[in-house]
Amino acid sequence: MFAFLRNNIAGIVIGIVVAVLIALGVAYGVICSGVISPCADEPIPPLERWAAKTSLRAYLKTHTPQTTNPLKADSVADLKAGATLYVNNCAFCHGYANNSTSKTANGLYRRPPVIAKEDWSEDADGLVYWFIDKGVKLTGMPSYGKTLSEKEIWQIVLFIKNMRKLPPEVKQQWAEAAEHPLIQQ
Ligand code: HEC
Repeated sequence: MFAFLRNNIAGIVIGIVVAVLIALGVAYGVICSGVISPCADEPIPPLERWAAKTSLRAYLKTHTPQTTNPLKADSVADLKAGATLYVNNCAFCHGYANNSTSKTANGLYRRPPVIAKEDWSEDADGLVYWFIDKGVKLTGMPSYGKTLSEKEIWQIVLFIKNMRKLPPEVKQQWAEAAEHPLIQQ
């Protein structure tokens, strides 16, 4: 076996290089041929969905910040600020208090999860912060790391994690925001 490999090493290397070049040529041909659909109104193929989810999960395993929110859940001012930031930047994709979203959200290839439907209280602060700070490539989820301050991101995290147990004045602000002109029921 090893003698065969030693005697034929040049042929084997050339064979591998040719196979790789053919594979690259086929991939290039497929990309340039126009058979890959760019249409956002199609269902996501299962293989694409699996690859995106699996690689995101694997990345997050080693990259999720372990930080905890420096802001406290009893700070009404921070919860109010978080609610305002969420309504202005996130709700038209991720849902208002009545779980409705916008036409924009409903037309995205990857439909944004309706955050308001879920209970986020048990999720790690750092994980929620990471999504807002970094965003997710090619999904519609923007990165806010350069457009919001750290404090503003923590205020949004505080609001999301406490959505189900808001003090009355913040609850009212959140409920009233659902009367938004962008909403599609
Ligand atoms: C234009 C639409 C859009 C906007 C605006 C948007 N997001 Fe997203 N967001 C998405 C999409 C799409 C995903 C799913 C990404 C994926 O496939 O992993 C997502 C994912 C997330 C997740 C992870 C949810 C989960 O279940 O894994 C969080 C948390 C999140 N967004 C928070 C926010 C916050 C907070 C804002 C506002 C500061 C925001 N997003 C603004 C589209 C949006």
